[in-house]
Amino acid sequence: GVIIFNEGQAGEGRADRRGLIGGALDGTTVNIPVVGTTFAVGKELSAPGTAVTLTTHTEGDPKRRTHNVLAESRWGDPDRVAMLGAHLDSVPEGPGINDNGSGSAGVLETAIQAGGLQTRNRLRFAFWGAEELGLLGSKHYVAGLSAAEKAGIRLYLNFDMIASPNHVFGIYDGDDSDRTGSPAGPAGSDKIEKLFESYFRTARQPYTGTDFTGRSDYGPFIAAGIPAGGLFTGAEGVKTAAEAAKFGGRAGVAYDKCYHEACDTIANISDKALRVNSGAIATAAFTYAYSPVLPGG
Ligand code: PHE
Ligand code: ZN
Ligand code: ZN
Ligand code: ZN
Repeated sequence: GVIIFNEGQAGEGRADRRGLIGGALDGTTVNIPVVGTTFAVGKELSAPGTAVTLTTHTEGDPKRRTHNVLAESRWGDPDRVAMLGAHLDSVPEGPGINDNGSGSAGVLETAIQAGGLQTRNRLRFAFWGAEELGLLGSKHYVAGLSAAEKAGIRLYLNFDMIASPNHVFGIYDGDDSDRTGSPAGPAGSDKIEKLFESYFRTARQPYTGTDFTGRSDYGPFIAAGIPAGGLFTGAEGVKTAAEAAKFGGRAGVAYDKCYHEACDTIANISDKALRVNSGAIATAAFTYAYSPVLPGG
């Protein structure tokens, strides 16, 4: 499978840093100045039936240009889009492997595998820039959609931190089914939550709900009324004794003790969480690629 490393540093603008995505990618290199990453996209993503485009956004003081990388399947109804996204940038303090090389790798692996299939619905994959600067890439993307384009996006799935070393398996709580009083997602978000739950049951893995806090790129999609969901294995929060009994790992220790730090390196990954969650991403993508009815209609 694909593994990712992302040596980008948000705000640094260092084009000399290279982030390699994918095991065997070559072809186009895409400079992402805010991320500081030279992102090798190229043939593996574009040839099997996906088109790769960049959207740009300029903001900040001093102003810098940042890029979203979008890949879209060639087949499927363009008015019925299932969208998956992960942010590619990191904070300046560290390389951002769990946050968010992990989600980027999971989405990219599915994009590569899905590219050659003649799906019923359109699949669109987003690698967001400048999430760490305030969801700038995803906000810019959603703000630029026409009403018709917005209506065509029937769901958005977000993957930000999916391989935390002291992980839980969190599924975004689309309907506040755990009644913690968290905001529910738009109608249809509950269906996404249920699809992920059925995957984890089939895989015989425990799962828990995780709240929509507005802290990642699903925020602009929810604000636009698009059903949303996704996975999250935990950031700076501390694992409880009950969670350690359910998921293993260490109670009283952060889910990711290297969150936003220099030690968020390739050593800061749970291989098991990455493997299980990558299966969940693929399952959701292929399910929605062929479903006659989608969470957004
Ligand atoms: N978006 C946060 C970050 O990139 C991580 C996060 C995701 C926190 C989901 C909470 C919930 O730093
Ligand atoms: Zn972060
Ligand atoms: Zn993140
Ligand atoms: Zn809740």
